[in-house]
Amino acid sequence: MIISVWNKKGGVGKTALSYSLALDLDTYYISNDESIVPSIYTGAKVEKIPTLIKEDCVYDFGGFSFSDPKIVDIFKKSDWVIVPLIANENGLIKTLLTIEDLVKNMDIDPKKILLVPTMQNDLSYSPEDLSRAIREKTGLEFELYPISESRIFSKLYEEEKGIKQIATATPLSRYSYRKILEAYGKLINKIQNKG
Ligand SMILES: Nc1ncnc2c1ncn2[C@@H]1O[C@H](COP(=O)(O)OP(=O)(O)OP(=O)(O)O)[C@@H](O)[C@H]1O
Ligand SMILES: [Mg+2]
Repeated sequence: MIISVWNKKGGVGKTALSYSLALDLDTYYISNDESIVPSIYTGAKVEKIPTLIKEDCVYDFGGFSFSDPKIVDIFKKSDWVIVPLIANENGLIKTLLTIEDLVKNMDIDPKKILLVPTMQNDLSYSPEDLSRAIREKTGLEFELYPISESRIFSKLYEEEKGIKQIATATPLSRYSYRKILEAYGKLINKIQNKG
């Protein structure tokens, strides 16, 4: 299975989510962007222009140029394109541009695109607001897998585990992280075609 994770906007959780998915789904991780991940995960590497590999892989895409047909090819061959976003005004604008690039410029099937908004606080747009705004602008319907802000994100790299692995480790962790586990579990189930 090939999963590409991308949003034109920085700091939206691309790397954290990609890393977590790679560990929880037991896949390789390839990014065109430097991060802590290759130093802690043996299945990870950085390539300026990532290559499409035959094994299961999560691709974490930082900024890239459409002049790289190899990258567009990875999006086209992806089973899923996951777009993390921050659920506010600027996050929405960048996400609309990201969707436009994916659907119009790369000809990606909208059904393959899963939006993962991070709901930061009461000021965040609700998932319903986001869906409506995106529908109005694009004329298309996208599936949303909202996740709340969670302190589990600060544990991913130090524990060298994914969200599901950390949250299901003990009965206590299952309880403490029940909210994020449920939300993230829906995304995992969708990816694995159980949802
Ligand atoms: N749901 C969340 N709850 C709490 N913290 C989060 C959540 N999602 C992401 N973060 C944190 O936000 C920060 C930015 O995330 P990350 O580095 O993954 O973003 P990015 O999109 O890869 O950024 P860049 O564009 O710089 O590569 C990280 O510290 C990450 O742990
Ligand atoms: Mg990153």
